[in-house]
Amino acid sequence: MKKILVTGGLGFIGSHTVVELQNEGYEVVIIDDLSNSSIQVLEGITSITGITPIFEKLDLKDKAALEQFFQSHNDISGVIHFAASKAVGESVDKPLLYYENNLNTLIYMLKAVLKLETSNFIFSSSCTVYGQADEMPITESAPVKPAESPYGNTKQIGEEIIKDTCKVNVNLNAVALRYFNPIGAHPSAEIGELPIGVPQNLVPFITQTGAGLRECLSVFGDDYKTPDGTCIRDYIHVVDLAKAHVVALERLLENNNQSNFETFNVGTGVGSSVLEVIQSFNKVSGQSLNYKIAPRREGDIVKAFANTEKANAVLGWKAKSTLDDAMLSAWKWERKIRNL
Ligand SMILES: NC(=O)c1ccc[n+]([C@@H]2O[C@H](COP(=O)([O-])OP(=O)(O)OC[C@H]3O[C@@H](n4cnc5c(N)ncnc54)[C@H](O)[C@@H]3O)[C@@H](O)[C@H]2O)c1
Repeated sequence: MKKILVTGGLGFIGSHTVVELQNEGYEVVIIDDLSNSSIQVLEGITSITGITPIFEKLDLKDKAALEQFFQSHNDISGVIHFAASKAVGESVDKPLLYYENNLNTLIYMLKAVLKLETSNFIFSSSCTVYGQADEMPITESAPVKPAESPYGNTKQIGEEIIKDTCKVNVNLNAVALRYFNPIGAHPSAEIGELPIGVPQNLVPFITQTGAGLRECLSVFGDDYKTPDGTCIRDYIHVVDLAKAHVVALERLLENNNQSNFETFNVGTGVGSSVLEVIQSFNKVSGQSLNYKIAPRREGDIVKAFANTEKANAVLGWKAKSTLDDAMLSAWKWERKIRNL
């Protein structure tokens, strides 16, 4: 049974990936400092798979603690590195916190991984690296645009750090997965997204409004050059996204990668507007969401959806869930955590 380290494994995407790894027979070790997650997620994972992963509460900025960790876990076959701070707005106010947490931890992880017998590494990147791409759907060869926020910059610099490290370490095999917009929850509603404070993302804001925690959703701009005037994104079910990590990891474990640093878009290939997401919520919940049109928000990208051909052909992976499936799972999760 191969042992996989998942950093940030109690977070939103990490926890769903732990479940999929366990389902495929991997032994999972999680490192998380609980800075943006809760220890109860461990119970959620256990109730789905019947297996409790090994858990180490550790801040990856603590280099000495990390070195000690690898001394007792020198048999790790692959690392999936989710741990990072991710709030775009906060990153503008606290750039050093973001550069320190997202880049120092990446560097420490890579140093540790290079010392392992097999150095397989998956990095959580983002479609933010493309900015407002000139062409839709976005392919992996679209130019990387100057980052709009320190958070986005940590993803761009993170990819550069990995690429440079791969150039001089032929034994390091890395994949950067560029996520589009992960939404939803595990269909069991045992794990899901747990935003702290006011949600920064559309779907948790919708489900919280549906649950009565927020009065009204503001739709920022309805006069963009899109069919209904609202912004378009590629919303991917978190379980599909989690599965993409397992296939990317297996590509590395089986030495099937064509170069030692590869990037893949992980999206559905379908763009949905804000109003379409609201309609989907109304359909699956039987509600009529309270929303209002508000002025455009500065810096918002108008349109972003993925060309997924590379991931489909090379990884043999394709997103299976529809927007309605994802919205239903998000709503089921919200109702569960609010006891509705
Ligand atoms: N959710 C999205 O929309 C999205 C989109 C693109 C990329 N990403 C990236 O995917 C990754 C996972 O995102 P998520 O939505 O699951 O976020 P999340 O905040 O739910 O999970 C991240 C986890 O990492 C942990 N963590 C943070 N800093 C740490 C540190 N120094 N040491 C140990 N643990 C630490 C947090 O406690 C949390 O459990 C992040 O790298 C994020 O930037 C997310």
